[in-house]
Amino acid sequence: MRKNIIAGNWKMNKTVEEAVELANAIKLELADCKDVDVVLCPPFTALKAVSDVISETLINVGSQNMSSEDEGAYTGEISHTMLKELFVRYVILGHSERREYYKETDFWINKKVKKALDKNLRPILCVGEKLEDREAGSTESVVEVQVREGLKDIPVSAYTELVIAYEPVWAIGTGKTATSEQAQEVHAFIRSIVKDMVGAEAADAVRIQYGGSMKPGNAPELLAQPDIDGGLIGGAALDATSFAGIVKAGM
Ligand code: 13P
Repeated sequence: MRKNIIAGNWKMNKTVEEAVELANAIKLELADCKDVDVVLCPPFTALKAVSDVISETLINVGSQNMSSEDEGAYTGEISHTMLKELFVRYVILGHSERREYYKETDFWINKKVKKALDKNLRPILCVGEKLEDREAGSTESVVEVQVREGLKDIPVSAYTELVIAYEPVWAIGTGKTATSEQAQEVHAFIRSIVKDMVGAEAADAVRIQYGGSMKPGNAPELLAQPDIDGGLIGGAALDATSFAGIVKAGM
Protein backbone atom coordinates (compact mmCIF):
# COMPACT_ATOMS: atom_id res chain seq x y z
CA MET A 1 0.00 0.00 0.00
CA ARG A 2 1.43 3.35 -1.02
CA LYS A 3 0.93 6.26 1.38
CA ASN A 4 -0.44 9.41 -0.23
CA ILE A 5 1.91 12.39 -0.38
CA ILE A 6 0.42 15.88 -0.68
CA ALA A 7 2.86 18.72 -1.32
CA GLY A 8 2.15 22.43 -1.51
CA ASN A 9 4.23 24.24 -4.13
CA TRP A 10 3.99 27.86 -3.07
CA LYS A 11 5.91 28.99 -6.18
CA MET A 12 7.08 32.65 -6.05
CA ASN A 13 4.56 33.66 -3.39
CA LYS A 14 4.74 34.72 0.27
CA THR A 15 7.14 36.97 2.13
CA VAL A 16 8.72 35.44 5.24
CA GLU A 17 6.03 36.93 7.42
CA GLU A 18 3.23 35.64 5.19
CA ALA A 19 4.89 32.23 4.95
CA VAL A 20 5.06 31.91 8.72
CA GLU A 21 1.39 32.82 8.98
CA LEU A 22 0.40 30.22 6.39
CA ALA A 23 2.63 27.52 7.90
CA ASN A 24 1.17 28.19 11.35
CA ALA A 25 -2.37 27.90 10.01
CA ILE A 26 -1.50 24.60 8.27
CA LYS A 27 0.20 23.35 11.42
CA LEU A 28 -3.00 23.89 13.41
CA GLU A 29 -4.82 21.53 11.03
CA LEU A 30 -2.17 18.97 10.15
CA ALA A 31 0.59 18.86 12.78
CA ASP A 32 -0.14 15.23 13.70
CA CYS A 33 -1.13 13.95 10.27
CA LYS A 34 0.18 10.37 10.03
CA ASP A 35 -1.92 8.97 7.22
CA VAL A 36 -0.59 11.28 4.51
CA ASP A 37 2.94 12.64 3.99
CA VAL A 38 2.54 16.42 4.02
CA VAL A 39 5.20 18.64 2.43
CA LEU A 40 5.36 22.45 2.31
CA CYS A 41 7.56 23.98 -0.43
CA PRO A 42 7.90 27.71 0.22
CA PRO A 43 10.33 29.93 -1.71
CA PHE A 44 13.99 29.65 -0.66
CA THR A 45 13.81 32.84 1.39
CA ALA A 46 11.15 31.35 3.69
CA LEU A 47 12.55 27.81 4.09
CA LYS A 48 14.22 28.49 7.42
CA ALA A 49 11.21 30.25 8.92
CA VAL A 50 8.80 27.52 7.75
CA SER A 51 11.14 24.78 9.02
CA ASP A 52 11.12 26.48 12.42
CA VAL A 53 7.31 26.60 12.47
CA ILE A 54 6.85 22.91 11.63
CA SER A 55 9.70 21.48 13.69
CA GLU A 56 8.27 18.92 16.13
CA THR A 57 5.35 18.15 13.80
CA LEU A 58 5.02 15.41 11.16
CA ILE A 59 4.98 18.03 8.38
CA ASN A 60 7.99 18.11 6.01
CA VAL A 61 9.65 20.95 4.16
CA GLY A 62 10.68 20.86 0.51
CA SER A 63 12.41 23.24 -1.87
CA GLN A 64 11.25 24.17 -5.37
CA ASN A 65 14.62 23.57 -7.05
CA MET A 66 18.22 22.60 -6.29
CA SER A 67 21.56 22.86 -8.08
CA SER A 68 23.09 19.75 -9.61
CA GLU A 69 26.50 20.93 -8.32
CA ASP A 70 28.02 20.77 -4.84
CA GLU A 71 29.45 24.30 -4.49
CA GLY A 72 31.41 26.96 -6.29
CA ALA A 73 30.94 29.57 -9.00
CA TYR A 74 27.25 29.04 -9.83
CA THR A 75 25.68 32.45 -9.34
CA GLY A 76 22.10 32.33 -8.15
CA GLU A 77 22.06 28.59 -7.40
CA ILE A 78 21.30 26.74 -4.14
CA SER A 79 23.14 23.56 -3.14
CA HIS A 80 22.00 20.42 -1.35
CA THR A 81 24.16 21.34 1.66
CA MET A 82 22.44 24.72 1.96
CA LEU A 83 19.01 23.09 1.76
CA LYS A 84 19.79 20.37 4.28
CA GLU A 85 21.02 23.01 6.68
CA LEU A 86 17.44 24.35 6.61
CA PHE A 87 15.93 20.89 7.30
CA VAL A 88 14.70 20.40 3.76
CA ARG A 89 13.74 16.75 2.98
CA TYR A 90 12.15 16.96 -0.49
CA VAL A 91 13.14 18.84 -3.65
CA ILE A 92 10.80 19.57 -6.54
CA LEU A 93 12.80 19.08 -9.76
CA GLY A 94 11.93 19.70 -13.40
CA HIS A 95 8.72 21.63 -12.78
CA SER A 96 7.15 22.64 -16.09
CA GLU A 97 7.65 26.32 -15.23
CA ARG A 98 11.40 25.68 -14.96
CA ARG A 99 11.40 23.66 -18.17
CA GLU A 100 9.46 26.36 -20.00
CA TYR A 101 10.87 29.67 -18.66
CA TYR A 102 14.39 28.61 -17.67
CA LYS A 103 14.97 26.01 -20.38
CA GLU A 104 15.79 23.18 -17.98
CA THR A 105 16.39 20.02 -19.95
CA ASP A 106 15.95 16.35 -19.08
CA PHE A 107 19.75 16.00 -18.95
CA TRP A 108 20.13 18.62 -16.19
CA ILE A 109 17.03 17.47 -14.37
CA ASN A 110 18.47 13.94 -14.29
CA LYS A 111 21.73 15.31 -12.85
CA LYS A 112 19.74 17.03 -10.11
CA VAL A 113 17.69 13.91 -9.35
CA LYS A 114 20.90 11.90 -8.98
CA LYS A 115 22.50 14.55 -6.78
CA ALA A 116 19.45 14.78 -4.54
CA LEU A 117 19.30 11.01 -4.02
CA ASP A 118 23.04 10.84 -3.45
CA LYS A 119 22.64 13.43 -0.67
CA ASN A 120 19.59 11.80 0.94
CA LEU A 121 17.09 14.33 -0.31
CA ARG A 122 13.87 13.04 -1.87
CA PRO A 123 13.27 14.28 -5.40
CA ILE A 124 9.79 15.06 -6.70
CA LEU A 125 10.35 14.75 -10.44
CA CYS A 126 7.72 16.66 -12.43
CA VAL A 127 6.61 15.49 -15.86
CA GLY A 128 3.68 16.42 -18.07
CA GLU A 129 2.56 17.25 -21.58
CA LYS A 130 1.57 20.62 -23.02
CA LEU A 131 -1.84 21.23 -24.58
CA GLU A 132 -0.39 20.97 -28.08
CA ASP A 133 1.13 17.57 -27.22
CA ARG A 134 -2.22 16.28 -25.99
CA GLU A 135 -4.02 17.62 -29.04
CA ALA A 136 -1.44 16.00 -31.30
CA GLY A 137 -1.93 12.65 -29.51
CA SER A 138 1.64 12.77 -28.17
CA THR A 139 0.91 12.73 -24.43
CA GLU A 140 2.42 9.29 -23.86
CA SER A 141 5.51 9.82 -25.98
CA VAL A 142 6.29 13.17 -24.31
CA VAL A 143 5.78 11.84 -20.79
CA GLU A 144 7.73 8.67 -21.56
CA VAL A 145 10.82 10.64 -22.62
CA GLN A 146 10.63 12.82 -19.50
CA VAL A 147 10.35 9.78 -17.22
CA ARG A 148 13.06 7.71 -18.94
CA GLU A 149 15.51 10.63 -19.20
CA GLY A 150 14.72 12.14 -15.81
CA LEU A 151 15.22 8.78 -14.07
CA LYS A 152 18.07 7.53 -16.23
CA ASP A 153 20.59 5.42 -14.27
CA ILE A 154 18.70 5.75 -10.99
CA PRO A 155 19.17 2.58 -8.90
CA VAL A 156 16.12 0.46 -8.30
CA SER A 157 16.46 0.94 -4.52
CA ALA A 158 15.75 4.69 -4.92
CA TYR A 159 12.19 4.23 -6.14
CA THR A 160 10.83 4.02 -2.59
CA GLU A 161 12.35 7.48 -1.92
CA LEU A 162 11.69 9.41 -5.09
CA VAL A 163 8.29 10.73 -6.14
CA ILE A 164 7.00 11.42 -9.65
CA ALA A 165 4.51 14.25 -10.16
CA TYR A 166 2.35 14.10 -13.28
CA GLU A 167 1.31 17.67 -14.05
CA PRO A 168 -0.38 18.21 -17.41
CA VAL A 169 0.84 21.71 -18.28
CA TRP A 170 -2.58 22.71 -19.63
CA ALA A 171 -4.12 22.05 -16.20
CA ILE A 172 -1.67 24.15 -14.17
CA GLY A 173 -3.19 27.33 -12.81
CA THR A 174 -5.92 27.24 -15.45
CA GLY A 175 -8.78 25.80 -13.43
CA LYS A 176 -8.90 22.97 -16.00
CA THR A 177 -8.29 19.74 -14.15
CA ALA A 178 -7.60 16.54 -16.00
CA THR A 179 -10.60 14.29 -15.45
CA SER A 180 -9.86 11.51 -13.01
CA GLU A 181 -9.97 9.06 -15.96
CA GLN A 182 -7.48 11.14 -17.99
CA ALA A 183 -5.14 11.41 -15.00
CA GLN A 184 -5.45 7.73 -14.06
CA GLU A 185 -4.64 6.72 -17.64
CA VAL A 186 -1.36 8.65 -17.64
CA HIS A 187 -0.46 7.57 -14.10
CA ALA A 188 -0.92 3.91 -15.05
CA PHE A 189 1.18 4.56 -18.16
CA ILE A 190 3.98 6.13 -16.07
CA ARG A 191 3.92 3.13 -13.74
CA SER A 192 4.22 0.81 -16.74
CA ILE A 193 7.29 2.75 -17.93
CA VAL A 194 8.88 2.43 -14.49
CA LYS A 195 8.10 -1.29 -14.56
CA ASP A 196 9.82 -1.60 -17.90
CA MET A 197 12.83 0.36 -16.60
CA VAL A 198 13.40 -1.22 -13.19
CA GLY A 199 10.84 -3.97 -12.58
CA ALA A 200 7.47 -4.60 -11.00
CA GLU A 201 8.46 -4.16 -7.37
CA ALA A 202 9.83 -0.63 -7.83
CA ALA A 203 6.90 0.27 -10.10
CA ASP A 204 4.50 -0.86 -7.42
CA ALA A 205 6.33 1.13 -4.72
CA VAL A 206 6.93 4.46 -6.48
CA ARG A 207 4.49 7.22 -5.61
CA ILE A 208 2.97 9.26 -8.43
CA GLN A 209 1.30 12.56 -7.54
CA TYR A 210 -1.18 14.42 -9.71
CA GLY A 211 -0.84 18.20 -10.10
CA GLY A 212 -2.92 20.77 -11.95
CA SER A 213 -5.83 22.74 -10.47
CA MET A 214 -6.34 20.21 -7.66
CA LYS A 215 -8.81 21.55 -5.09
CA PRO A 216 -10.75 20.13 -2.12
CA GLY A 217 -13.71 19.62 -4.48
CA ASN A 218 -11.96 17.44 -7.07
CA ALA A 219 -9.34 15.85 -4.79
CA PRO A 220 -11.49 12.94 -3.50
CA GLU A 221 -12.18 11.60 -7.00
CA LEU A 222 -8.61 12.07 -8.21
CA LEU A 223 -7.13 10.49 -5.08
CA ALA A 224 -9.52 7.53 -5.34
CA GLN A 225 -7.83 6.43 -8.58
CA PRO A 226 -5.65 3.36 -8.13
CA ASP A 227 -2.45 4.90 -9.53
CA ILE A 228 -2.78 8.41 -8.05
CA ASP A 229 -0.81 8.60 -4.81
CA GLY A 230 -1.21 12.21 -3.81
CA GLY A 231 -1.05 15.71 -5.22
CA LEU A 232 1.31 18.56 -5.98
CA ILE A 233 -0.77 21.61 -5.24
CA GLY A 234 -0.19 25.16 -6.48
CA GLY A 235 -2.92 27.77 -6.00
CA ALA A 236 -4.94 25.83 -3.42
CA ALA A 237 -1.82 25.36 -1.28
CA LEU A 238 -1.73 29.10 -0.57
CA ASP A 239 -4.81 28.79 1.61
CA ALA A 240 -4.59 26.65 4.77
CA THR A 241 -8.22 25.51 4.69
CA SER A 242 -8.06 24.45 1.03
CA PHE A 243 -4.72 22.71 1.47
CA ALA A 244 -5.88 20.89 4.60
CA GLY A 245 -9.09 19.92 2.78
CA ILE A 246 -7.04 18.23 0.04
CA VAL A 247 -4.85 16.46 2.61
CA LYS A 248 -7.95 15.20 4.42
CA ALA A 249 -9.29 13.83 1.13
CA GLY A 250 -6.10 11.79 0.91
CA MET A 251 -6.40 10.21 4.39
P1 13P B 1 -2.09 24.70 -9.60
O1 13P B 1 -2.58 23.80 -8.48
O2 13P B 1 -2.16 26.16 -9.27
O3 13P B 1 -2.75 24.35 -10.91
O4 13P B 1 -0.52 24.38 -9.78
C1 13P B 1 -0.08 23.09 -9.91
C2 13P B 1 1.39 23.09 -9.87
O5 13P B 1 2.06 23.56 -10.76
C3 13P B 1 2.03 22.51 -8.68
O6 13P B 1 3.39 22.32 -8.88
